[in-house]
Amino acid sequence: MSQYQIAVVIGSLRRESFNGKLADALIKLAPAEFSFKRLRIDDLPPYNQDDDANQAEQVKRLKSEIKASQGLLFVTPEYNRSIPGVLKNALDHASRPYNQSAWAGKPAGVIGISIGAVGTAVAQQHLRTVLAYLDVPTLGQPEAFLTMKEGLFGADGGIGNADTGKFLQGWMDRYAAWIKS
Ligand SMILES: Cc1cc2nc3c(=O)[nH]c(=O)nc-3n(C[C@H](O)[C@H](O)[C@H](O)COP(=O)(O)O)c2cc1C
Repeated sequence: MSQYQIAVVIGSLRRESFNGKLADALIKLAPAEFSFKRLRIDDLPPYNQDDDANQAEQVKRLKSEIKASQGLLFVTPEYNRSIPGVLKNALDHASRPYNQSAWAGKPAGVIGISIGAVGTAVAQQHLRTVLAYLDVPTLGQPEAFLTMKEGLFGADGGIGNADTGKFLQGWMDRYAAWIKS
């Protein structure tokens, strides 16, 4: 029985998303007492403050799934040197109404993969800025900036590259220990 339920937020809606694959591969590296639930963000309406007093069912679902979790895992691409709009939209939705944010106090890991050389470093810094305001403590080290390369993901859905696999196992070990602490 898993003791730690982690809510996973993927910043890409793309069917073959590298970040979706990275999340799946990371989950395989997690300890047995962890379980992961991918939060749906593709059906959220564009955030509108007029709706704060009457949030859509999809927003209520998102907030209740966050509240039921012991931790968060953000796996996001970088779009134009920042986080994708769909991710910001989800962050905004679940932060409202004022003083009723679902995010507050949930510890989070931040990681991502892109085809660019900086490997989502800028997007991750932008995300950390937003999360700090939302009172979400983030794992500081190790940082993980991944660039997509042929063979990174194996046919079994795990990490296909031995060095990257070792690095990500270390990342997951630190993340899991931190969530437990
Ligand atoms: C709108 C848009 C903006 C992008 N901007 C960046 C960027 O700033 N830095 C970067 O490394 N890659 C950028 N890319 C390329 C992404 O790394 C690439 O599309 C990646 O596959 C997206 O992640 P995903 O596979 O999880 O969807 C951009 C892609 C799109 C569609």
